[in-house]
Amino acid sequence: MKGIVLAAGAGTRLYPITRSVNKQLLPIYDKPMIYYPISTLMEIGIQDILLITSEREQDNFKHLLGDGSQFGIKMNYAIQYVPKGISDAFIIAEEFIGDDESVLILGDNIFYGESLRKNLVNAKENLRNGYSTVFGYKVDDPERFGVIEFNDKQEVVSLEEKPTEPKSNYAATGLYFYTPGATNNAKTLKPSARGEIEITDLNKIYLNEGNLKCELMGTDINWIDTGTYDSMLEASIKIKAYEEGTSKKVAQLEEIALRKGYLSNDNLKEIADNMIKSGYQKQLTKLL
Ligand code: G1P
Repeated sequence: MKGIVLAAGAGTRLYPITRSVNKQLLPIYDKPMIYYPISTLMEIGIQDILLITSEREQDNFKHLLGDGSQFGIKMNYAIQYVPKGISDAFIIAEEFIGDDESVLILGDNIFYGESLRKNLVNAKENLRNGYSTVFGYKVDDPERFGVIEFNDKQEVVSLEEKPTEPKSNYAATGLYFYTPGATNNAKTLKPSARGEIEITDLNKIYLNEGNLKCELMGTDINWIDTGTYDSMLEASIKIKAYEEGTSKKVAQLEEIALRKGYLSNDNLKEIADNMIKSGYQKQLTKLL
């Protein structure tokens, strides 16, 4: 199974803070934002990850994440030269995905909470049964998102991208699991009114074939789409409070790697020793 993180946006809504630094490199509490979507892929059990960025930003991401070995994963990099839409990620990732299953996460989507693992396990099970999966989350402002409509059996009956009159309060989050073949489906899409090949249109292909499932995320899960100044600040405050309240770290990639067996205690000791003294290094030493 292959993981893709799409972090190519220019972040113009966050100017001036994103004028010289990519949004996904900005901190959310004590880590760069990009750690959070990578942590979700690692929780799924994915170790082979393609990070898609703009041309200008690729080196900065490489400085931060390197080849991924410090987290027991393999980081690969690709460029989206023109912002053609989320589904374009599968065309860029064609060779990387090959005949494999793929999971896409948007670089500014943060997920954490106890029942998240259950949702992820269910989505993997769906793949085994030939179904792709979107994740529904109840929101007050569905018109800002892809919106999922259900029947009374909780089956998906429609998907609409940023509708003016949403048919439900369930947003499709920026996390998607696909059976093999996502690239070929993405290639058939036509650009929308905003000139992008929409992820909602890709999902509609699976829906129309009867091969799409939706996993509903519970109220204990926090999903934050960090697209505004306020949501970024809110994310930092919420994550700090969650970590203090539960004594658990969110998106600590080294901890996940240790727990999943991607890194050994010896690997981690070496990594912690090599880190310039920071609060983060102390946290890593604590893991040991
Ligand atoms: C995108 C998708 C939308 C989805 C959202 C999740 O929106 O198009 O369907 O609900 O991500 O973050 P955009 O990033 O274009 O606002």
